[in-house]
Amino acid sequence: MLKTCNMSRALAKCFRSPSVLLVTSIILLSFTIHWILIKQPLRCSHFQIKYAKPLATLVDNEEKVTEIFNAITRTVPSVYFTNISTTTSAKNSRGIILDLKKQYCVGDSLTVQVTMFDYVGKRKTYGGDFLRARIFSPKVEAGASGRIDDLNNGLYNVHFALFWEGNVKISILLMHPSEGVAALWRARNSGYKNIIFYGQYEYRSKKVQSECGFELDSDEAKCEYGAKEDKDFFYCIKPDNVSCESLISVTSKERSHTYLNTLEKTLFLRSNIGVEIPQTTESVDVMSCNRNSEVKPKCSTGMFQPFPSGYFLNNVWYPVFCNLSTYDPQSHISNCLSGKKIYIMGDSTLLQWTHYIASIMNSLKFFDLHASGSFNTLLLLDTDKNVYIHWKKHGHPLLIAYAFTVKDYSTVNQEIDRLEGGPQTVFVFSLGHHFRPFPITLFINRLLNTRKAIERLFLRSPDTKVIIRTENTREQSVAMDRFSDFYGYIQYQLTKDIFQGLNVGIIDAWDMSIASGAFELHPSASTVKNQINMFLKYIC
Ligand SMILES: *[C@@H]1O[C@H](CO)[C@@H](O)[C@H](O)[C@H]1NC(C)=O
Ligand SMILES: *[C@@H]1O[C@H](CO)[C@@H](O)[C@H](O)[C@H]1NC(C)=O
Ligand SMILES: *[C@@H]1O[C@H](CO)[C@@H](O)[C@H](O)[C@H]1NC(C)=O
Repeated sequence: MLKTCNMSRALAKCFRSPSVLLVTSIILLSFTIHWILIKQPLRCSHFQIKYAKPLATLVDNEEKVTEIFNAITRTVPSVYFTNISTTTSAKNSRGIILDLKKQYCVGDSLTVQVTMFDYVGKRKTYGGDFLRARIFSPKVEAGASGRIDDLNNGLYNVHFALFWEGNVKISILLMHPSEGVAALWRARNSGYKNIIFYGQYEYRSKKVQSECGFELDSDEAKCEYGAKEDKDFFYCIKPDNVSCESLISVTSKERSHTYLNTLEKTLFLRSNIGVEIPQTTESVDVMSCNRNSEVKPKCSTGMFQPFPSGYFLNNVWYPVFCNLSTYDPQSHISNCLSGKKIYIMGDSTLLQWTHYIASIMNSLKFFDLHASGSFNTLLLLDTDKNVYIHWKKHGHPLLIAYAFTVKDYSTVNQEIDRLEGGPQTVFVFSLGHHFRPFPITLFINRLLNTRKAIERLFLRSPDTKVIIRTENTREQSVAMDRFSDFYGYIQYQLTKDIFQGLNVGIIDAWDMSIASGAFELHPSASTVKNQINMFLKYIC
């Protein structure tokens, strides 16, 4: 994939050069994980390096989970504060454009340096703040993410690539101060108390409810659900005289409880989240300058994706590493999906996909599976064209207040292991939002199990297409100690890193949500359309 790397260099630069390694902190996170997984320093030419040892040969994930957890923890600031006035203040901080030019051309890069100050105007001397950066031009419905380098001394360099012409505005938001990031990381990994699950058992016309979870603080007998080899269990307290197989459905809700202390909580008042950092220059003018754009290869699975991986222009997503721009893939959807078996596993964001696909291909019909409860498995069929599309929940944890059946429950890795696979088989999955309120080790373990299952799948059926939709950013009004985008960001990085080197297609919903300036769990129809475009390009 050296080629892709060189090709995207002009616009996006080779973002993962060793020199960056020395100065990055947020990006360091992804490096560190790479380092651990592949035990090789990353250079531009090493993007597609194969794992020295396939993870499939790992019998037990435990050590690797700890290793990855520790690597992330080292990149999260460990700072304490006793007074909110010593935490980072967005309003007191400043951004300036480095080497400001009179004129910019499409293809140029631009770096904004941000200097952080606290509430009493003292310069911050350490990094770890969680930022979100974007350039955009509302008139042409254009936007792209910025790549953030934490210099670990209170300075940040935010790198943008100028992809389109016109007046381009710059926005850099302080999502959480480093003190908040430290508090969130500690809170997240303190335990499983944020969410309470209830299981409904039905037995000899008797209905019983009992508490469930990943960790139960009780000496009572428990039912254990999950596969031993995955070390991925869900438990319920066993109701008396009721068999464990009688568990029908589960509900969940937030517990009135927090792992944050009173002082920390003040950092997460809505007014302190996503605050714009003032800048000396708020926009620049970009000319086309008639530079020749480089020819890009057709989008296909297995390509390395830089960050940013693309940009919106007129609400159309243009990946920087491949050519998606030639035709509207959705006009060919019938041909593309003809004869295909598509398994979609995830949360409501992939449910959105399923409904979107049904809305643009009228010959697909929902088949009623006669299921009860909420969030049921969906089946879409076109019997003429032999199209089979199956959507299913990704397994625990699911944060759903309405009873959802667990009778057909499985994890993504279990489902992949059940696939025969083949050139007509497509497996799409997404893991993310529902994992945010739980210790990250649960998520790491699930991803490692999933990677191993994909390795096994590709050994027996290398033609099967596997597509991963990353999670995206969400609302700023949610309880940050459970659902912060900081948690999502770590999961997003892990997802990209753990599946690195496999012949899978990544749909970078995170990048798209930042580029489009979205703050919503469920992306707009226009963003979903762009995700589906990319999906169709990957599988056809
Ligand atoms: C916090 O710091 C500010 C500014 O230094 C000071 O005015 C305030 O009294 C301090 N608050 C507490 C609770 O110590
Ligand atoms: C369970 O069954 C035993 C034996 O049949 C009985 O003594 C006990 O009362 C039952 N417990 C409940 C909660 O129904
Ligand atoms: C994309 O592909 C089309 C047709 O194959 C070609 O005309 C166009 O120049 C390509 N664009 C880029 C940026 O490579």
